[in-house]
Amino acid sequence: MLLPVILAGGSGTRLWPLSRLAYPKQFLALTDSSLSLLQTTLERLKGIETAPPWLICHEEHRFLAAEQLRQLQLQNASLLLEPEARGTAPAIALTALRANARGDDPLLLVLPADHLIKDEAAFHSSLTTALPLAEAGKLVTFGITPTEPHTGYGYIECGAALSEGSESEGFEVACFREKPDRVLAERFIRSGKYLWNSGMFLFRASRFVEALSHYHPEIVKHCRAALAGESRDLDFIRVGQEAFSHCPDLSIDHALMEPLSQDTKKRSAAVVVPLDAGWSDIGAWSSLWDLSDKDAAGNVTQGDVISLHSRNSYLHAQSRLLTTLGVDDLIVVETADAVLVAHKDRVQDIRLLVSRMEADA
Ligand code: GDD
Ligand code: MG
Repeated sequence: MLLPVILAGGSGTRLWPLSRLAYPKQFLALTDSSLSLLQTTLERLKGIETAPPWLICHEEHRFLAAEQLRQLQLQNASLLLEPEARGTAPAIALTALRANARGDDPLLLVLPADHLIKDEAAFHSSLTTALPLAEAGKLVTFGITPTEPHTGYGYIECGAALSEGSESEGFEVACFREKPDRVLAERFIRSGKYLWNSGMFLFRASRFVEALSHYHPEIVKHCRAALAGESRDLDFIRVGQEAFSHCPDLSIDHALMEPLSQDTKKRSAAVVVPLDAGWSDIGAWSSLWDLSDKDAAGNVTQGDVISLHSRNSYLHAQSRLLTTLGVDDLIVVETADAVLVAHKDRVQDIRLLVSRMEADA
C-alpha cells in the first residue's frame, strides 16, 4: 500500500510578510491557482492509487488544514498534529511508527507542501520508477537537475547507475550534502555529478524507522512515547506533548540522509531517481518572481502597482497603491500591517528579519 504523508508544519518565514506564523505559506494560494500550495500537493496525487493521505502539521494550524482538506472533499485524510515543530525527521518518524503499528508497513510517499510541479505525468512516471526500488527496501530520493548554485537545497552526488545503460532508472547516492555554502554549491554544479534533493522521499515505513534508529535512536524513542500518549478529538490526532518535546529539532536531511551517505557500510541503502517535471520549491520571493509571468521590463506586478523605469522586480500590493521609480531587482510586498523592501539577492535572509522582529516583540 502507498501512503502519502504530507509535511505541512513549516513556518515559511522567507515569504514574510504574506506568510505569517499564524498563516504559513503552505496554506496560501501564492500562484495563479486558486488552490493553496498544500491543496496543489494533494491534487497532484489524483490518478495514483494510494491510501487516504496523512497530513502532519502544527497544532495551531489544525482548522486551516481541516478546512483545506474539506474543500477538496478529502475528509477521509488523517490529520496528525504536532504540539511544536521539531523538524521533518520527528514528523516523518511519527507517521512511520504510527503506520507501522497498524500492521501493514506501507510505502510512505513523503511530500513537502511547498512545491510546484508543472508536469504531473512526469512526476507520476518517476514515482513508477521509484516504487519497486522502495519495495526492495531502498530509501528513495527524487533528484532535480540543478540550474544554479542555489544554497537553499540539498545536493545529491550520483554514484553508479542502478541499471546499466539507463540513467533514468536512478543512481546510488554517493554523497548527500544539505544546503552547502555558495562556494561548495558552485563546485558541485561544475562537477556535473550532482542533483538537487527535491525533498520528496519514498520508503517502507519500517525501513525508515530502522535507518533513523541507527543515527538518532532518541528521535525514534521519543516519537514512540509521543504516540503512546496519542489522543483523538473530532478529526484531529494529537501526540503526547511532553515526550515529543524531547525530540531534537532535525530535518530528515541532517538526521538521516547526510550521515547515511557518509557511512560506507550503509550508503547503498539510498538511491536517487531523476525527476524532470518542472519542479520548483516556493521557498523565497525570488522563486515566485522566477515562476510568474513578467511584463516587458521583467516586473511581476500584483495589485495596485505603478512602476516606471523599474526592472526585474516583484511588486505586490495588497491594501494600498504601490509605486516604484528607477529601481531594479527589488522585492516589494505591501500588506495592511507590514511592508517588505528587499534586494532580490538577499531574499534567503528574510528569516533574519523575522528573527529580529521576534526578538524585539
Ligand atoms: N510536520 C512538519 N513539522 N512539517 C515540517 C516541519 C515540521 O517541524 N518543518 C518543515 N516542515 C515541512 C514544510 O512545511 C515543508 O513542506 C517541508 O516540510 C520541507 O521543509 P522546508 O523548511 O521547506 O525545507 P527546505 O525547503 O528548506 O529544504 C528541504 O527541501 C528542499 C527542496 O525543497 C530539504 O529536504 C532540502 O534538501 C531540499 O533540497
Ligand atoms: Mg521548502
